[in-house]
Parts: sequence; structure tokens; C-alpha cells
Amino acid sequence: MKKVIAIFLFLVAELSVFAQSTKIIPYPNNVKELEGVFTINKQTSIQYDLFNDTLKRSVSFFREAIQTQSGFRLPVIANSSKLTNSVIFRIVNVDSLGKEGYILKIQPNQIEVSANTQNGIFYAVQSLVQLLPWESKPQNIISLACKEIADSPRFPWRGMMLDCSRYFFPTGFIKKLLDNLALHKINTFHWHLTDDPGWRIEIKAFPELTNKGAYRKETVVDSRTGSLLKFDGKRYGGFYTQQELKEIVKYAADRFITIVPEIEMPGHAQAAIASYPWLGSTDVPTEVATSWGVKPYLYNPFDTTFYFLEKVLTEVFELFPGEYVHIGGDEAIKDQWIANPKIQEKIRVLGLKNEHELQSWFIRRVQQFAQSRGKKIIGWDEITEGGTPKDAAIMYWRSDHPEPLVEAVKGNHPVVVTPTEFCYFDYYQALPSKEPLAIGGYLTLDKVYSFEPIPSFCSKEQAKQIMGTQANLWTEFISTPEYAEYMLFPRLAALAEVAWTYKERKDYTGFTKRLNSLLNIYKAKGIKYCGELLPCAN
Ligand code: ACM
Repeated sequence: MKKVIAIFLFLVAELSVFAQSTKIIPYPNNVKELEGVFTINKQTSIQYDLFNDTLKRSVSFFREAIQTQSGFRLPVIANSSKLTNSVIFRIVNVDSLGKEGYILKIQPNQIEVSANTQNGIFYAVQSLVQLLPWESKPQNIISLACKEIADSPRFPWRGMMLDCSRYFFPTGFIKKLLDNLALHKINTFHWHLTDDPGWRIEIKAFPELTNKGAYRKETVVDSRTGSLLKFDGKRYGGFYTQQELKEIVKYAADRFITIVPEIEMPGHAQAAIASYPWLGSTDVPTEVATSWGVKPYLYNPFDTTFYFLEKVLTEVFELFPGEYVHIGGDEAIKDQWIANPKIQEKIRVLGLKNEHELQSWFIRRVQQFAQSRGKKIIGWDEITEGGTPKDAAIMYWRSDHPEPLVEAVKGNHPVVVTPTEFCYFDYYQALPSKEPLAIGGYLTLDKVYSFEPIPSFCSKEQAKQIMGTQANLWTEFISTPEYAEYMLFPRLAALAEVAWTYKERKDYTGFTKRLNSLLNIYKAKGIKYCGELLPCAN
């Protein structure tokens, strides 16, 4: 009888270990299951080249996760001849792994983690962390099923955008969000920092942007009431100091996340114009917007505006070391440019046909400035109207306007494909009648998962211009960190798999099974995901 029980326990152990093989999201692109288990205990050592400081950073995430899971801190030793009961991290030179790929070999006597770069080591650590038994209480021995993973992402741009203008999110939340993006191997945080209802980034050369532009006198409480808008009567605002931004940029870099700041132009400029009326296209002063929707306030296209924008961008470039800056470009309705005779005269003098061409001229000028400082610009797909500025990347968002996507691809521009239909996480996701008020739409988990970022019209060669995809969280109806998390998770897990895992390896049923494990991590990390608060549709 004892023998039967022992065999039964062995089978159960093997089965539960085998089930771990499917636990990683986004799913790795090559997984081979092997016999046996590796056991992490107090004596397990971590080994790496101790002179490599950045390796230390990635490895520390692994050590911390083990500490959470087991209560003990694994000893670290320099690369040595101790080969058993060790987790060994190595930088290698394997072409096929590229910049972000990694190899993770879990064998009965050791775990080997190798990658060409720190980025790859970090992603291997994220995979390892997801393999830990988050479903159970901290334990002294952690068993990992043996396997060999050789993994690298499908797309280089795996992003998430957060609108911090409509509502301001504190730095503590931004850091938690960055942790959670890293968990999903998201490498780009697109930070929407300026818009009509609030300017959120300290600019030393123009202090009124945050003295004035970061605060609105009140906020609309229910914008569905048509012309009879109701307001809360409460001053609202906030901004990030440059010191805070530097800390966050470093925090993100430690997690191999690049921050792409968005400084909107020529539209969505009401908060800036409220701060410095000489930037505007009318003589009538305005205030920071208190309600949502597209506003008519556009920067004027005169030299003073470019003086302003260049000074602002110079500070932005110093703060954010990434390759790209996002210059907005969306929803710039041209009424104020049409109504202003001096602007009409400018169009004539420049030999342009219309206001669309003026916008294109405006963006081109900014692009040239950015280029002179070694930066690239990316803009929403409206920057294709009136001629796409050379070397600009396009962020395609309007599902109902396919033309800019076609034009961007044909014009050889790099493209991030983030259409409303699949990537707008401000849309409802559960039963709209049960959910708190959202902006509209309906985007379920399975719909996000079904997204294919490469448009069907692309040739193999053109497909290379698709840099990737991202989720967008506009916050008209999202005023708290908890609700932002509810809207993001687990839909972000689905999008992460779209961005990382090759199309032929995707499997929605497998994803939902693996998601059950990821939800345990969400619980451990205190993420207020949809499904915890309300049943999630799929
Ligand atoms: C956008 O949603 N206005 C880019």
C-alpha cells in the first residue's frame, strides 16, 4: 500500500510540475519539456560575473522573487566550478537571440540563464519568476520542472500608453505600473504628459506650464448629459517634477523599459495656451479645460511658438534618453487656423495649399529640430495628412480610417499599430451595464488576443516596418489607480502575447489556462484586475 501511495504522490508531483510548463505569459517562442525537476532550497547558489554591475541588477529581481516565495535570500557567488544546485547567469554571443532573447535551461542539477544582453537576462528572469509557485504560500523548497526555453520577441515595440493629463497618477502608481509592465515583457511606456485638461511635466524655462497649466478649476462629472454638463466644483491637478521624472526614467531603465514622453502639438494645447496665451491662435484667453472631447485650441505657427517648443523639447530630451519623442498630432481641428487672417497669410507665404499642409509643415519643423538633437519623432496617424514628415514614425490608431496606415507603410515609415478596435483599453470589457461608466466601446479579452498587428496588405518586406503594438489607456473616466489597473489587467496580458509570441504559437485556450497562474501573481502583487472586481467577459 505504501508503495502505491508513493507512486501516486510521485505522479501527482510530476503532473503538477508538468502543468507549470504552460505558465509563462507571453508564451515563449520555443519550449522543450525535459525530464525531472530542479529544486531551489537554502543552499542553492546564484552565480554570475560579479564585476558585471548590470547583470547584478537583473539577478537581483530573481533573488527578490525567491525571497518572497521562500523567505530566504539565496547566496551569490562569483562564476566558479560549483556546478550543482546553482542558478548560473551568463552573457553569451548567439546571433539568433538578438537584443532581447534568452535561453533558460532548467536541469535537475542547475539552471542556466544566458542572453546576449542584460535585456535578455531580465526577460529570462521574468519567465523564471512566472514559473514559481505563486498559487501557494511561501515555502522552503521550490520545485521547477525541467525544460529548455529559447525565446525572443516577435516585435521590438511592446508598449502601453497612459494618459496622465485627464487624471494625474502619482509616482508610486507609475512605479508599480512599470513593475507590472516588466512582468509582461512590455518594453515601452508611452507617457501622455500634456493635453487640454492639464500639463503634467515641469519645464524650468516655462514655470507657468505647471503653476497654471497643471491645474483646472473643476472637472466634468458626467459628460453624457450633452450641453448640460455637470461639474464637481473642485480644483484638480498635479505634475511631475524633473527630479521625480529622472527617478522614474531610471526606475524604468532598470526594468528595460524605455519611456516615450508625449508632448502634444499642434492641438490638445489648451493647458499650454492657458499658461502662455501668446502661444494661441486666437486673441481670446482661455483656461485649462475642465471637460473632455476635442477642443479647438491650437498653437499658432509663428516663430515664438517654435522658440517655446524647442525649449520645451530640449528639456524633454534631457530627461528622457530614449530614441523617440511622441509629438501627438491627433485631432487638431483647424477652425482657429482658418479663422485667423495672420495664419492664413502664413499659409500663403509658405506656398501651402491648406491647413493640413500647415500642420505637416509645423510637424516637419519640429522633426528637423528633434533630428538635429539626435532624436526621432513619432506621431498619431493624423500626421500623415498634408504629407508625412520624412523620417517620422506613425502611431496608427483610427480603426475606421485605414488610409494613413497604408500611406505610412507605402512611404516606408516605421509604424506602431494600435487601433481603437483592439488596443483602446478605456473601452468596456465586461458587461457594460455592470461596469462603472467608461468612454464606450466594447473590447473583450479574447478580442484583444485575436489582434494581428501586421496588416494583411503588407508584403513580407513591408511587414518589417511594423515596429509593434501597444495598449492605450485614456483616462476621461479613469480617475484612480485601482480603476486603471482594472482596465489594464488582464487585457494587457493578452496584448503582451500579441506583441511577443509568434502568431503560429498563439493559442487562446492555452492562454486562458496560463492566465489562471498569472492571476495568482496579480493577487500577490495587489493588482486590482478585472475578474477580481467583476467577472470579465471573454
Ligand atoms: C487618440 O485617441 N486621440 C489618439
